[in-house]
Amino acid sequence: MTEPSTRWWQTATVYQIYPRSFADSNGDGIGDIPGIISKLDYLARLGIGVIWLSPVFASPMDDNGYDISDYQAIAPEFGTLADFDRLIAEARARGIGILLDLVVNHTSDEHRWFVDARVSRTSRYRDYYVWRDPAADGGPPTDLQSTFGGPAWTLDPATGQYYLHQFSRRQPDLNWENPELRAAIYQMMNWWLARGIAGFRMDVINLIAKDVDRGITADGPKLHDYVQEMNRASFGNSEALTVGESWTATPEGALLYSGRDRNELSMVFQFEHVMAQWHETWGKWQPKPFDLVRLKSVLSRWQYALADDGWNSLFWGNHDLPRAVSKYGDDGRYRVQSAKKLAIALHFLKGTPYVYQGEELGMTNVPFTAMSQFRDIETLNMHRLHRDAGLPEADFIAGANANGRDNARTPMQWTAGPEAGFTTGTPWIEVNPNYVAINAEAALADENSVFATYRKLIALRRQLPVMVHGRYEAHLEDHQQVMAYSRVLPDARINVVANFSANTVTVTIPPAMRGTGTALVGNGAPVTTLGEELQLAPYQAFAVLVEVGAD
Ligand code: NOJ
Repeated sequence: MTEPSTRWWQTATVYQIYPRSFADSNGDGIGDIPGIISKLDYLARLGIGVIWLSPVFASPMDDNGYDISDYQAIAPEFGTLADFDRLIAEARARGIGILLDLVVNHTSDEHRWFVDARVSRTSRYRDYYVWRDPAADGGPPTDLQSTFGGPAWTLDPATGQYYLHQFSRRQPDLNWENPELRAAIYQMMNWWLARGIAGFRMDVINLIAKDVDRGITADGPKLHDYVQEMNRASFGNSEALTVGESWTATPEGALLYSGRDRNELSMVFQFEHVMAQWHETWGKWQPKPFDLVRLKSVLSRWQYALADDGWNSLFWGNHDLPRAVSKYGDDGRYRVQSAKKLAIALHFLKGTPYVYQGEELGMTNVPFTAMSQFRDIETLNMHRLHRDAGLPEADFIAGANANGRDNARTPMQWTAGPEAGFTTGTPWIEVNPNYVAINAEAALADENSVFATYRKLIALRRQLPVMVHGRYEAHLEDHQQVMAYSRVLPDARINVVANFSANTVTVTIPPAMRGTGTALVGNGAPVTTLGEELQLAPYQAFAVLVEVGAD
């Protein structure tokens, strides 16, 4: 069998930085680009190959930078274009590429296009946005709701029409029907590519091709035409890594984006495994008991569907999601064990892994007790809606602490010193009080840290073709506590077993997994042999490499 050719982003691990919360170099309480540069050696030690930088562009920060007012300028609180160029160069010197966050479903209401567009109905840039006349009663043209709560339409009194915003009212949606707008976006992308970036993470790419008059907001009929056009007009002939965010992606849809003959993207972020853990009616604001069988079935479905074509992205967390160890593990007594278990369970799957800042330390959700501690626009808007509906505040805070976006946004915990070493000033959002025990300095001094496990996994991906290309095989699919799978090439097999529970569990090992090999990684005593039965300690996880044909 000939091994498929390998793209650089198939052996690399991506690390996401939320710049506001990563490292503050100037004491203003907000993380910045020079702060990131000062931590590149830490990231090089972890072994990552790419940084996905959440937006650093000029922005009024209504949604912390996902509301861009100038695509070709850096927000002053994050630094300057010169700082950015230095980041690219310094990262490259350490073998690390930079992915920019391409937010082109919408801009800020302070973007010059929108400022012009709202001057009059005949403004030069009016058609760059989506405008509709009021309904007969003067209200919004449709009852479409925004993701952040409330109507997705806001009236512009000066021109008498409503504009569409699928997120906050300060994030007007762009009109992708307009070819001039599309050309301007591609030109901007090329400007950044020429500066030496490694590619783009594409914010809500599934929403760009909306057809609001037909009630279509996601996955509109022209979506893939636009993505193909973008590919042709910008990164298509480069080695860029491109990953599109799509909360509506199905495995079949992911093949359209990432299939080898499609000329679209490298991969998509899908969220089925995330939403599988949400409440049917109340969504993420109402926590629901963890269901491993459901989680495994979603992950397996994606693994099998993209086995021969397309490519998966692998992640537990990001800046919109709760901390992985709090969501899928145990952030109390078994924090370290379960954080390592999660890393092992995910990194051997087929796809490109993404590590969210602090995940490699086993950072946890934050225990806020008052609404005044929250900063996230979505959480604050939703709170208002829940309060107006008469729902108890304590319940909302419990939901926000379980699933809200601020969990991921508390400052990176570098040291046990003041403000976790994140800033010498007052951080824009409180530091999680557990920083005294959970911080990078402590992790680096401990050869058994969560960080050490991530480092090992990231290195293994570069060494083992079977980890990159091996065929996925699921085992024990109905087991409620244990995840087990193999990755297989003709000459090698990796067997992965992970106990997702706080109990000691005895499992019958399926015949295909039995045998003796080399312990690759684990969070307990090294395991080299799988017999008929195996007793797993709480949250125990490991991977064994079996050379096929070897004794
Ligand atoms: C998805 C981003 O990940 C999120 O943080 C943001 O609020 C929305 N898109 C809107 O840009």
